[in-house]
Amino acid sequence: MFSVGRLVAALAATATLFASSANAEVHTRQIRKPDVHARQVEAAKRWANSHVKRSTGVQNITFSNPKASRTSLLRTLSRTLLINVFMSLLIFINTEFFVDGSKIPEVDFDVGPSWSGLLPISGNKNETRKLFFWFFPPGPGGSLDDLIFWTNGGPGCSSMEGFLQENGPFSWGVGEAKPTPNEFSWTNLSSVLWVEQPVGTGFSQGKPNINNEDDLAAQLVGFFQQFLEVFPEMKKKKLYLTGESYAGTYVPYIANYIYTHPTALDLDLQGIWISDPSLSWNVVQEEIPAVDFVHKYENVFSFNQTFMAELDAIAARCNYTGYMDKFVTFPPKGPLPLPGKSTFADRGCDVWDTIFNAALIVNPAFNIYRIFDTFPVLWDVLGFPGSFPQAQTPLYFNRTDVKKAIHAPLDVNWEECSDIDVFPKGDQSLPPAFTVLPNVIEKNNRTVIVHGLADFILIAEGTRIVIQNMTWGGLQGFQTPIANDSFIVDGVGALGTTHTERGLTYYEVELSGHMVPQFSPKAAFQIMQYLMGFRATP
Ligand SMILES: *[C@@H]1O[C@H](CO)[C@@H](O)[C@H](O)[C@H]1NC(C)=O
Ligand SMILES: *[C@@H]1O[C@H](CO)[C@@H](O)[C@H](O)[C@H]1NC(C)=O
Ligand SMILES: *[C@@H]1O[C@H](CO)[C@@H](O)[C@H](O)[C@H]1NC(C)=O
Ligand SMILES: *[C@@H]1O[C@H](CO)[C@@H](O)[C@H](O)[C@H]1NC(C)=O
Ligand SMILES: *[C@@H]1O[C@H](CO)[C@@H](O)[C@H](O)[C@H]1NC(C)=O
Ligand SMILES: *[C@@H]1O[C@H](CO)[C@@H](O)[C@H](O)[C@H]1NC(C)=O
Ligand SMILES: *[C@@H]1O[C@H](CO)[C@@H](O)[C@H](O)[C@H]1NC(C)=O
Ligand SMILES: *[C@@H]1O[C@H](CO)[C@@H](O)[C@H](O)[C@H]1NC(C)=O
Ligand SMILES: *[C@@H]1O[C@H](CO)[C@@H](O)[C@H](O)[C@H]1NC(C)=O
Repeated sequence: MFSVGRLVAALAATATLFASSANAEVHTRQIRKPDVHARQVEAAKRWANSHVKRSTGVQNITFSNPKASRTSLLRTLSRTLLINVFMSLLIFINTEFFVDGSKIPEVDFDVGPSWSGLLPISGNKNETRKLFFWFFPPGPGGSLDDLIFWTNGGPGCSSMEGFLQENGPFSWGVGEAKPTPNEFSWTNLSSVLWVEQPVGTGFSQGKPNINNEDDLAAQLVGFFQQFLEVFPEMKKKKLYLTGESYAGTYVPYIANYIYTHPTALDLDLQGIWISDPSLSWNVVQEEIPAVDFVHKYENVFSFNQTFMAELDAIAARCNYTGYMDKFVTFPPKGPLPLPGKSTFADRGCDVWDTIFNAALIVNPAFNIYRIFDTFPVLWDVLGFPGSFPQAQTPLYFNRTDVKKAIHAPLDVNWEECSDIDVFPKGDQSLPPAFTVLPNVIEKNNRTVIVHGLADFILIAEGTRIVIQNMTWGGLQGFQTPIANDSFIVDGVGALGTTHTERGLTYYEVELSGHMVPQFSPKAAFQIMQYLMGFRATP
């Protein structure tokens, strides 16, 4: 193995050879900041969208419902003193949802028109439960025929995380000094609707009372019906349901609900995206692949040899060792067995937890969502995630000026992940891979399952187990192997793997943590283009 120490020594030797006698004190490579910067700029060009023509603004989209109209014209008129009072009244009605993109706190550019606020989950007059949404029309190159719905997971985590740090029109990522435009915003593809759901999440209002995923889907579809009342021009659009993490459970159940209630929603569901998804048992998605994962990233974890030997012994005793080679074959030989008796982890077999604890000893900044993180822990305007304590304040969405700008309730103490249980008695639904997912794949035009390879909270190899144990389109699992280096990102090259059979496309993205649109936005954008039929191949 090539050690870092040896590399430094080799570089030092080379530098000495070429160092002039006048500069004899220089023993190592001297590289100046502008040189480093120039190389980074050159590399970054491959990741930019040279082929996309640049323009600003959004598609000309107007809504007939006065609740959803824009106010710029009214504002201009209202300068006339005479009609000021009358107009203020109108503006009050009309600004119910409209967001002026030039007046978003801390954002020093115009993000264009959008609409946000609370809408009830049913048309009942007495309805107390409301979900918070933020809706953006398509950017200049985007499609007017489509609508993307995004939800984060948790359960109980806000979709404003996705909005601000993954796929929204502007981003305020961890460690960034201020918001920046997001080159890879999904609004470039079509209209996007971020919703804080289920009830109990983020700004959403009311008392949570759902027991399972069908209840969740029914409430969300109720919200969607109200949304289409205010934005009737969005009816009949092609719909894509997308989300990550625990939304890997929400999204297949929501899709299944829509397919089994075909008249409930005046939208044309086409496909789903689920990334780093909760699809199956804990033992499958966290335990079986955990020690393999540590071996793959041995130099990142940097465990001592005694501990590595202990891990290997536990993995062998718990039937995790060799599981992939033996059972995850293409095609599979039959249903895949559980390694022991538990769907969580048998006694003494919770290697995931053992690894997490040990990783924190070596690296207290260890981040289960992206294993490469080390000190310093970067500040985060959302205060989460990251598996470390965050004392950042104020949180961006907890600021009164932000709440006012986006018609959010001022009296809610916004937190990224709710501290109340959004399923008060737990989520009684079985994991979707055992229930609705096969049906949804069969009904969808396209389905994508995406996994970041640097994610430890859910591990890609576990998702491979899930897929190989699932029967859809008349066959179990993928019939042919997933080829290495098969995911080619335009202009970049191989960045992982992809494989398609019977309407399901699986992607693994190198270097990406749990939040793929955040950590690999260009890859995520390309995957969405494929899902939406804007490109023929993955
Ligand atoms: C935008 O659409 C509206 C209504 O369809 C139309 O009246 C207006 O002329 C359009 N504006 C532009 C700049 O295309
Ligand atoms: C609202 O009223 C209807 C009947 O009018 C009732 O069925 C429903 O349970 C009520 N909903 C709430 C949230 O109170
Ligand atoms: C998204 O739109 C912006 C603004 O029009 C543009 O600068 C950017 O290149 C687009 N990105 C992609 C990936 O198409
Ligand atoms: C595979 O699926 C079967 C049911 O179809 C289930 O009994 C079994 O536990 C699953 N195995 C794994 C590893 O999830
Ligand atoms: C491992 O598999 C063997 C054979 O299937 C079984 O007898 C044993 O109980 C399993 N070990 C554990 C820890 O579940
Ligand atoms: C090796 O790692 C384990 C787990 O973190 C730790 O308990 C043990 O003290 C370490 N041993 C040495 C010699 O550092
Ligand atoms: C949100 O703001 C409220 C009121 O300003 C404050 O009491 C609360 O602690 C804040 N919440 C967080 C998570 O910072
Ligand atoms: C794919 O890559 C892995 C290591 O990353 C290797 O173990 C495996 O043999 C490769 N598969 C093929 C088919 O080359
Ligand atoms: C499926 O997608 C293809 C390509 O995007 C499109 O041509 C076709 O109309 C879609 N099929 C359905 C049933 O919507």
